[in-house]
Amino acid sequence: MNILEVKNLTKRYGDFTAVAGINFAVKKGDVFGFLGPNGAGKTTTINMLTGLAKVTEGTVFLAGIDCVKHMKKAQELMGIVPDESNLYPEMNGLENLDFCGALYGMEKKERNRKAWELLEQVGLKEAAKKPFKAYSKGMKRRLTIAAGIIHNPDILFLDEPTTGIDVESARHIRKLLIDLNKSGTTIFLTTHYIEEAERLCNRIAFIVDGKIVKIDSTEKLLETAQREKIVQFSVDNCILELQGILQQTFPEYKYKVIDEQTIRVYSAEAIDLIPIIEVFKDNSLTLYEAKVIKPSLEEVFVKITGIEAKKMKNEGGKK
Ligand SMILES: Nc1ncnc2c1ncn2[C@@H]1O[C@H](COP(=O)(O)OP(=O)(O)OP(=O)(O)O)[C@@H](O)[C@H]1O
Ligand SMILES: [Mg+2]
Repeated sequence: MNILEVKNLTKRYGDFTAVAGINFAVKKGDVFGFLGPNGAGKTTTINMLTGLAKVTEGTVFLAGIDCVKHMKKAQELMGIVPDESNLYPEMNGLENLDFCGALYGMEKKERNRKAWELLEQVGLKEAAKKPFKAYSKGMKRRLTIAAGIIHNPDILFLDEPTTGIDVESARHIRKLLIDLNKSGTTIFLTTHYIEEAERLCNRIAFIVDGKIVKIDSTEKLLETAQREKIVQFSVDNCILELQGILQQTFPEYKYKVIDEQTIRVYSAEAIDLIPIIEVFKDNSLTLYEAKVIKPSLEEVFVKITGIEAKKMKNEGGKK
């Protein structure tokens, strides 16, 4: 059953189209990933879905509710974790959660019980009485998630939940999201970490320049990738020259130079290594390493979008 249905969703800023008529559906129980590079339109999309940005054109239905017309009603079913925290810097962790609970109309006693339960769940019990502004980035993100789930939403929206925070917090958040999903919460997240999407999501949409260029189950995406065989060779140098020689000798394979010492050979069929190694020998090259690469979502992403996976990671790291 679809919990979220999005049709022709568009956002224009003047002449500029940030999101260009996208269509997708999220099923109840999905962990749905929106994966794309900087400026792809991820935040714009999630903001339109959650009522933080106005929809220029198109429709969004959440559990049958028309979000464009009745966003307030739809928001009751949503947990929202924006990329920048929306909590109060002067209040401590407990007070922030209590305040959020009050906004959702929860009784004092219930709010307090739930706040402590959540603090425990996100690993912030010890920091409960510290002001939010004294939290590290990772702690802030964890508390923002706690605040987003205090009213047990049916669907949780997170914009880059693990970008720019420490490894430990990121791990904690991923585990938390998996547990939440297991207990029935549908999750919609954006990310530019390919690995994160692969690890967390059961469905992924690749978004580039405001358009969805591919959308499928993670399983299917990986299946497509893993039909291809890849072997990576590391030699002492002269990789460009070597690429030419290999191309001439084995035109049935595809090649990609990774760096000055590394080249990858791609094939739809099994790759016979001996003749390739002979070529290295004939050209007096020292072969340091030959390894089989198990294709990951990265390969699918690079193939479909033409965007270097390295670029995505660097962008993520910079934030
Ligand atoms: N208020 C605005 N006015 C004009 N252009 C905007 C505005 N907000 C976003 N954009 C543009 O829309 C495009 C999509 O931006 P968006 O923030 O949705 O990307 P993103 O995929 O979330 O990127 P990031 O990975 O950096 O978070 C970008 O080109 C951005 O410059
Ligand atoms: Mg963004």
